[in-house]
Parts: sequence; C-alpha cells; structure tokens
Amino acid sequence: MFRTFFVSALCAALATPTLAACTFSQLQNITAAYIAAQSTGKLPARISSATYTENFKSAHIQKGIISKALKIDHNRSLYDTVTCSTFTELIVASNSHPYVLGTQIALADDRTKIKRIDTIITTTGDWQFNATGTLYWSKQEDIASGWETIPEENRDTRAVIKAAADAYLDVFSDSAVVVPWGTPCAKLEGGLYSGTGEENDSCNTGVPSGTKIVNRRYVIDETVGSVDVFLNFGGDKGNPDSHNFRILEGNIRYIHTITHGQILGF
Ligand SMILES: *[C@@H]1O[C@H](CO)[C@@H](O)[C@H](O)[C@H]1NC(C)=O
Ligand SMILES: *[C@@H]1O[C@H](CO)[C@@H](O)[C@H](O)[C@H]1NC(C)=O
Ligand SMILES: *[C@@H]1O[C@H](CO)[C@@H](O)[C@H](O)[C@H]1NC(C)=O
Ligand SMILES: *[C@@H]1O[C@H](CO)[C@@H](O)[C@H](O)[C@H]1NC(C)=O
Repeated sequence: MFRTFFVSALCAALATPTLAACTFSQLQNITAAYIAAQSTGKLPARISSATYTENFKSAHIQKGIISKALKIDHNRSLYDTVTCSTFTELIVASNSHPYVLGTQIALADDRTKIKRIDTIITTTGDWQFNATGTLYWSKQEDIASGWETIPEENRDTRAVIKAAADAYLDVFSDSAVVVPWGTPCAKLEGGLYSGTGEENDSCNTGVPSGTKIVNRRYVIDETVGSVDVFLNFGGDKGNPDSHNFRILEGNIRYIHTITHGQILGF
C-alpha cells in the first residue's frame, strides 16, 4: 500500500520535471528588494550576504554599484520559478552618469535571502551604449504591450523558449543553424533600435559569422515567453553580455542586449 503510493508519487515527480521550486511572489519580493537597494544604495542583510559579481568578476558588494543610489527610470524583470532565479533590466538615463544594468539573481535555499547577484554594468563608452535610447525604445515597447503576460493556453514551454534563444546565439558561429525568426521583430542593442514600426520588421538583418557565444546562463519565464541569457560574446574571454529574448509561438519577436566593453569588428 505504502509502497504503491511511493512508486506512483515518484512516477508523478519524474513525469513533471518542471515542478516549481519557488513561487512567483517569493521571486517578486526579492526583486523588489533588489530594486529598492539599487535605488537607495542601502543593502538589507538578506541582500548584503550574497555572493556578488560585476561584469563576471567577483566584487565587493558594499563597494559595488549596488551600494550606489541610482535613480531608476525603467525596470523589467523575469521570474524563473523552476531555477529560483530572476533577471532584471534597469535603465538609469536621467542620472548625471547614465547606466543600463542587467542583473541575474539566485535565491537562497530559504527563499527569502539572495544567494548570488551577477550584474552586467554598461555606461558611456560601452558598445552601442545610449541610455536615453534604451529608455525611449523600452517605453515604446511598453506602449505596444510588447512584453506582456501571455494567456496560459498560448504559452510556449521552457524548452521551446530556450531553443529559440540558443538558435539565435548559435548562428553566430554556425550559419547553418535555423533560427525561428518571428515577424515583426525588433532588436534593441544597447540604445540602438532595429525596429521601424512596420509589420514586416525583421531581426534577421544579417548576423556576422565566426563568433562563439559561450558560458550561457539562463533565466526563463514562460509567463512572458522570455529568456535572459548571460554569456561571453566571442569565446571564454569575450564580452560580458546579456541577451534577453521575447518568444511568441516559438518565434523571436524582441531582443534586448546589454554588452560590457567594445566588440571588435562590429
Ligand atoms: C518580502 O519578504 C520579507 C521577508 O520574508 C517580508 O518581511 C516582507 O513582508 C515581504 N514583502 C512583500 C512585499 O511581500
Ligand atoms: C518598476 O517598474 C514598475 C512597472 O513595471 C513600476 O510600477 C515601479 O514603480 C518601478 N520601480 C522603480 C523603483 O522604478
Ligand atoms: C540616443 O537615442 C536617442 C533616442 O533614440 C536619440 O535621439 C539620440 O540621438 C541617441 N544618441 C546618440 C549619441 O546616438
Ligand atoms: C516592409 O514593407 C515596406 C512597405 O510597407 C517596404 O518598403 C519594405 O521594403 C519592407 N521591408 C522588408 C524587410 O521586407
């Protein structure tokens, strides 16, 4: 009797590999705390105890950008309930020193503290950096409801969302890869926008070849059909970079990139 129950419980567990490990509200709670910390420069204990990196290098959390009060003009986040992690894009355009930050956060096992914060910092001089542009185009996409929640029956699976992002990232080193290009599609690379507002806008504007995109770390939120990938652009020593995708019915519709440093040859 007990044994039968145990076996069927185990089978159920195996049949549902994407069991939520934490709740949306736990992830929203920690994200709100992170955004409040970045706005004030004050770190509560559940944040200050985190392992912290900036541009993929270990950094001192009390001396890092997170300890500097920034006026945030725009924020958008993804919540991954399977891996208990989040991604937040912060645009700081009206500050005398502008920034666009991409941050992946991993929740601690107790679900109230942060285990790890990885931030990519971009500012004047970084590839295509223009915080005014990033803010302007992000707001245009808000007006177009570009990243809104997708009704449950129309959502893609995590696997489909991840595969679309990987195809895009793979085509930089293998031109034979088939990318599920959607239409319309717009790329916001730094502050530079590819969209023109036409129904036929495409992100398939020619990808240079020979670039390896490695060390990919994913935050997937199927409620908004979105995945953020932290990666090195151009091999192991390549630029710290964030690619955030919006996927609808398996096809890529928006891409936001945050790239630290300059990309040679682009
Ligand atoms: C977030 O979590 C903390 C610690 O568990 C709790 O004290 C706080 O009330 C929560 N805040 C919200 C807005 O849920
Ligand atoms: C973050 O964005 C939401 C809207 O998506 C907004 O309501 C909130 O005020 C923003 N937070 C900050 C600190 O700007
Ligand atoms: C930054 O973007 C804004 C809005 O698109 C644009 O008006 C401005 O010319 C851009 N600045 C630079 C230096 O490209
Ligand atoms: C998109 O449509 C416009 C006309 O509406 C046309 O001028 C343009 O060439 C088209 N672009 C592509 C990429 O097909």
